[in-house]
Amino acid sequence: MTNLSVVGLQWGDEGKGKVVDYLAGGFDAVARYSGGSNAGHTVVIGTSKHTFHLLPSGALKGKELLIGAGVVVDPVTLKEELALLPDDARGHLTVDARCSLVSPQDKELDGVLEEMRGATPIGTTKRGIGPSYALRALRLSPRVSDLVGEFNFASLSGFYQRLSIDPAGLVAWADESRKLLVEIMGDVGKRVVEIDEKGGSVLFEGSQGTLLDLLHGSYPYVTSTHTTASYIPVGLGIPPSLAGKSLGVAKAYTTRVGSGPFPTEIKGDLAERIRSVGNEYGATTGRPRRVGWLDLVALKYAVKLNGASELAVSKVDVLSRVGEFRVCVAYRRDGSDVSDFQRAQNHLGQVEPVYESPFPLHDLSFTHGFPRDGKKLVDYLEDQLKTRVRLVSYGEERSMTVEL
Ligand code: IMP
Repeated sequence: MTNLSVVGLQWGDEGKGKVVDYLAGGFDAVARYSGGSNAGHTVVIGTSKHTFHLLPSGALKGKELLIGAGVVVDPVTLKEELALLPDDARGHLTVDARCSLVSPQDKELDGVLEEMRGATPIGTTKRGIGPSYALRALRLSPRVSDLVGEFNFASLSGFYQRLSIDPAGLVAWADESRKLLVEIMGDVGKRVVEIDEKGGSVLFEGSQGTLLDLLHGSYPYVTSTHTTASYIPVGLGIPPSLAGKSLGVAKAYTTRVGSGPFPTEIKGDLAERIRSVGNEYGATTGRPRRVGWLDLVALKYAVKLNGASELAVSKVDVLSRVGEFRVCVAYRRDGSDVSDFQRAQNHLGQVEPVYESPFPLHDLSFTHGFPRDGKKLVDYLEDQLKTRVRLVSYGEERSMTVEL
């Protein structure tokens, strides 16, 4: 089997964790290549719920777990997550030596920067993600390998002090981090190549969603790194030829956490209803997610950008319980319709969505086989997106997934 990536096609929270858990059985390892503990990938087995922020979601399948150089690692979160898993999970984990670390000071700085933005904050997760990536670009960030090297913590402390952030505790934090990370530090890129050379395959777990990509998303309301499949070779340190195919994940509607334009956003009672039926609250921060109709303009862009050759559609059950289904097929601005996301990208906040209600979604119960309206939805999406739907997820529990 060849390598495969699972990428989010919207503003994150598409259900990537569940899809990765579902597919992981067919792969030798699961690798994260970007983001950090801003992610919240949830896997529900029976009545127990596991939310992974840093560990790849293949952890519950006993797979080899890889955290690539493109990820920023918060050792405190990693330790907490490992403590919830059986002891052998740690033995299966390699964290790339080149990963930048997220310090408590980075989290504080994240909060300070949000305050500085005043009335227009990004609405970050305050997990220190932006500061950690920024420090890496400034070549100030400590990396995992620095825990055994000669890293100049005095100079980093001086940097935080200049920003009026108290550096106290930085050295103790580094000592704790060393205890956790030195044994499991390695070369993730080399390991992926090794697996490939032995005829094995790796599942790449994307984080956040395409529309939160630093370069290609709804800038400046984005995260601080790249969320698309194109980042896999860089974020892992592997040749592009090993990036494999990509499977895009989208909800049957759209959600967004934090600020920024959201053309299909719904407000009021209906939004409240979708939020409550779909349990749309952030897995990392608990914040209520903004909700909206399916945006095909954005989705077509995301499918193309990732070169997604197959799709997983999640939360189809929610819309049947809500009783309405609308789809945005174009954006209207100054009297003309645009269906090209890139053309609208700089004024997403000023467009009016043009909606279609293709058909009502009444029959979406999966208890007696694949429901009639589910088939209509799949056909419609395949036709619009010119991409095969491989998986349909109709509930949060692991078993509530159909492979077509
Ligand atoms: P940051 O990544 O914490 O800097 O946050 C930047 C933006 O990305 C904010 O709008 C966050 O709400 C959003 N974001 C970051 N991670 C996730 C995620 O895993 N799901 C959904 N939104 C996210």
